This record gives sequence, structure tokens and C-alpha cells, in this order.
Amino acid sequence: MDNNSNFLELLKKRYSCRKYIPSRKVEMDKILSCLEAARLAPSASNSQPWKYIIVDDENLKRQVLENLKIGPIKFNQFAKDASFFAIVVQQLRNLESSAGQVVMQRSFSQFDIGCSVNNFCLRATELGLGTCIMGIFDEKKLKKIFKIPLNRKIVVVVSAGYPEDVVSEKKRKALDEIYSLNKW
Ligand SMILES: Cc1cc2nc3c(=O)[nH]c(=O)nc-3n(C[C@H](O)[C@H](O)[C@H](O)COP(=O)(O)O)c2cc1C
Repeated sequence: MDNNSNFLELLKKRYSCRKYIPSRKVEMDKILSCLEAARLAPSASNSQPWKYIIVDDENLKRQVLENLKIGPIKFNQFAKDASFFAIVVQQLRNLESSAGQVVMQRSFSQFDIGCSVNNFCLRATELGLGTCIMGIFDEKKLKKIFKIPLNRKIVVVVSAGYPEDVVSEKKRKALDEIYSLNKW
């Protein structure tokens, strides 16, 4: 197996960053470049069911941090020094993409968003930034703060900034645990 690849190196370099350099802001052109990577992701019927709300305003960031919680219990407070948050919202499917997904009796929107967010995080890594995808937040409160329509869903919140920690060792299943050849 040829593991000599810049792409594999980038994949190994990306990690969930849980310590950011306080008050070091990520430049807007870098944020836009991450969004460009997110935009290029594949999606079922090319539905592109994602919308990124970038939050870099200090007061709004405080409100996001405040709402990384389940009930009264706060989580992910490591994100206090993040330069910005990306709130990733699932858009409504268009007719064309709905048809295929209705026939299949499943929605691929969250899968699509996963592809897009991964692109976002990988590009951020390439630019020397750290990111952490977060699945814990008070959706109702965040929707209210950002006036997100009630019929939309927040899928994840991503924290991002210049990292102050180091790449953690990848804990992953062994290769032979995740595939089989020509049978289950
Ligand atoms: C959908 C999703 C939700 C996650 N939620 C959280 C979270 O709320 N808090 C957190 O610290 N990490 C969260 N993570 C990060 C995972 O814990 C992390 O990706 C995993 O442990 C592998 O580590 P690595 O990203 O450093 O390679 C989440 C990751 C994903 C994909």
C-alpha cells in the first residue's frame, strides 16, 4: 500500500482542536476559502442542502458558547477562545432531489452536510487552522438568536481558530476491521 500522499498527510493532520490561541482572529479570506471547500462537496442529486452561518462577532460568539449545552449542563466550553463558529443548517430539499430520496425512503441531507463539513475542516487544516465539529447545542435557542426558520435543522456547530494544542494521536479501528472483500 502506497501511503506516500500529501492528501493522507492532510487527513492525519486534521484533528478535533480543543484549545485555540485567544484573540488571534482568523482572516476572512481563510474563512471564505474553507467555505469554498465546503461548497465543492458532493450531495445527493446535487441538492447542496447546507447553509453556514459564520459567527465572529464577540457578543454573538458568547451567545453561541452559552448555548453549547443540554438542558442546564454546558459542554464544549473549550471553544471559548475560538475565533469563529460555523453554525451548519440543513436547507430544505429541492423537488428534484426530494424525488430520488422519497423513492429511496431516506434523506441524504445529513450525509451531504457531513461531506461538506469535512471539506471545510480539511481546508482549515491545510490553512493552519484548528476546528472541532460539535454535536451538542441548544438548537431552539440558537435558532431564536440567529432567526433561523423553524422548519430548518441545525446539524452541527463547528468551532475554529488558530490552534494552541497539538495534533492528538488518531485512534481508529484497524483497516481490516472496516472492510471485507467480496462478502459481508
Ligand atoms: C457529528 C460530530 C459531532 C461531534 N461532537 C463533538 C462534541 O460535541 N464535542 C467534542 O469535543 N467533539 C465532538 N466531535 C469530535 C469527535 O469526538 C472526534 O472527531 C473523534 O473523537 C475523532 O477525533 P479527531 O477528530 O481528533 O480525529 C464530534 C464529531 C462529529 C463528526
